[in-house]
Amino acid sequence: MRIFETHAHYDDEWFDEDRDELINKMCANGISPIVNIGCSMENSRHIIEMIKTYDFIYGTVGVHPSDIRNLTETDMEELKQMSVDDKILAIGEIGLDYHYDDVDKEKQKYWFIRQLYVAKDVDLPVVIHSRDAAKDTLDIIKSEHANATGGVIHCFSYGKELAREYLNMGYYIGVGGVVTFKNANKLKEVVEYSPLESIVLETDSPYLAPEPFRGKRNCSLYLTHIAEQIAKIKQVPVEKVYDTTYKNAEMLYRI
Ligand code: NI
Repeated sequence: MRIFETHAHYDDEWFDEDRDELINKMCANGISPIVNIGCSMENSRHIIEMIKTYDFIYGTVGVHPSDIRNLTETDMEELKQMSVDDKILAIGEIGLDYHYDDVDKEKQKYWFIRQLYVAKDVDLPVVIHSRDAAKDTLDIIKSEHANATGGVIHCFSYGKELAREYLNMGYYIGVGGVVTFKNANKLKEVVEYSPLESIVLETDSPYLAPEPFRGKRNCSLYLTHIAEQIAKIKQVPVEKVYDTTYKNAEMLYRI
């Protein structure tokens, strides 16, 4: 069994105590590769170091919508330079987050579009974060023809209609711990509706731990709980979920 972890944040301080030990446990348990996702300039730089330390860890660089306040054009140049590394697989996570009201929406849109251009310039797919911003995210991806780069809608939180739009553009749907929650009917419907060939597994560790670990620190070992839930919804053996999502992730990240 091998499992492809498409989205985690092992640079998070929540892992400071036992990072090394935990990461080595992943590989021993068949969880490899792991893609560590960028969300600020600072942590993107950190990821460049991380991918040198662990051979089965890959990375992405990019700035999350909640961290865009002080971005500059110099930062965009730096993102481009960092993305030259062979182990940097995508630009992200980038997008829109209207859940909290603390970052100006127009500014979010500006830097989302700007980073989509970085992805086009360096010919890498994108990892999209979109929360409570369904319409604006879709409008921008369509108007900027971001389907050309390809990518994943990480932690997909919208309904079937939106899933259909993204699937039609060739995007992957990132499914994580939320699918195991009792109240996650909307996501379960999306999983039922989407072809298994369009789904990738992710944890978003240390956040969003699946049942029965909900609320605790998440880690990629729990991907088995997510895969089992998907297998149940799609009525296929769990091995098929591991296998298909692994191939999907290779396609998504082009490795
Ligand atoms: Ni994330």
